[in-house]
Amino acid sequence: MTTPYSLLILPGDGIGPEVMAEVVKVIDWFQANRGMRFDVSHDLVGGAAYDKHGTPLADKTMARAQEVDAVLLGAVGGPKYDDLDFSVKPERGLLRLRKEMDLFANLRPAQCFEALADFSSLKREVVAGLDILILRELTSGVYFGEPRGIHDDNNNPENEGGRVGINTQRYTSGEIRRVARSAFELAKRRGNKVCSMEKANVMESGILWREEVQWVHDNEYPEVELSHMYADNGAMQLVRNPRQFDVIVTDNLFGDILSDAAAMLTGSLGMLPSASLGAKMANGRPKALYEPVHGSAPDIAGQGKANPIACILSFAMALRYSFDQGDAATELERAVERVLADGVRTPDLMGPEGGTPVSTSQMGDRIVAALAAGI
Ligand code: NAI
Ligand code: MG
Repeated sequence: MTTPYSLLILPGDGIGPEVMAEVVKVIDWFQANRGMRFDVSHDLVGGAAYDKHGTPLADKTMARAQEVDAVLLGAVGGPKYDDLDFSVKPERGLLRLRKEMDLFANLRPAQCFEALADFSSLKREVVAGLDILILRELTSGVYFGEPRGIHDDNNNPENEGGRVGINTQRYTSGEIRRVARSAFELAKRRGNKVCSMEKANVMESGILWREEVQWVHDNEYPEVELSHMYADNGAMQLVRNPRQFDVIVTDNLFGDILSDAAAMLTGSLGMLPSASLGAKMANGRPKALYEPVHGSAPDIAGQGKANPIACILSFAMALRYSFDQGDAATELERAVERVLADGVRTPDLMGPEGGTPVSTSQMGDRIVAALAAGI
């Protein structure tokens, strides 16, 4: 009997539970047909946890998240919780998970399915078949560096307005090396190519970034192809010829911007998965949180309109990066691709060429049916 993979499912709010129900169908299929065993627990996060416990993430849920091989989260938030005190807002549940699990590597794939290539704002020839992964450092850099703040700039008569705003880009070599290692590890399971982006031409932190990424490469991953690019050129290359990349690794600030830009290469928010990884646990697996990029979509919640694919593809990432089931991940991605190629469309994917309109639950059923039908 194989050891089960432990998985904590946190559906959250709004469309979170609706899309997660479809992931559960997929998990059941893999258990029944591919000899995998999942030890799945379900719990509350966000507004749902606040309603029950008065906090967006209960301590026992946090403790369970630290133990499991992977956490799969739907989405949190909604208008019902907009007036809550900042300390108990639904988002705080998600932030607590990311912080206490110390998830320093944020993975945002940009994958363009052939059938949806016309949803991209770029030409079909540029994006069809695109499959890249942006790895953003998530726990350091200018969003966290000290000193920071808005101060009076009293002794400077030439400063109209008299104030100064300060943030500090700060990276230690250790912070750079650990995210570089993640990049090389990920590349080994994909196209074996890493492009590191910084601004070493104008920033000392960028020089250190470049040197440390190169050091990790030369000493630990010489077999992976490494290139360096200035982040501004990287932004241009991403829209000019995105298929030249495999894994892009970059800092928190550049990664925030580049990953949002890359996301739009592929079209719909309902299609975008993500993962956040931390240090390796005793069993060799990284701490991991998988979640769709989208939010709780209160405008369509409860209507069966949500596209479950972003959440299903997040589970595919869990198969690949937490459970070492790369073939199963590819199998699931191919099933999604086939369903899309057959013209099956939730409302967000319905383009001018039309298609077969389906509900959230029917989309899940179609994907499971495509898995069962095989290639
Ligand atoms: P959103 O991502 O929830 O929705 C933006 C638009 O995209 C809406 O029109 C929505 O209907 C559509 N959309 C999103 N996901 C979809 C899907 N799977 N299928 C079809 N259409 C989809 O972002 P918004 O409206 O800014 O935020 C709504 C709530 O979600 C807020 O409370 C916000 O704080 C929260 N939020 C939570 C996130 C998370 O849990 N990680 C991330 C972003 C927002
Ligand atoms: Mg952003």
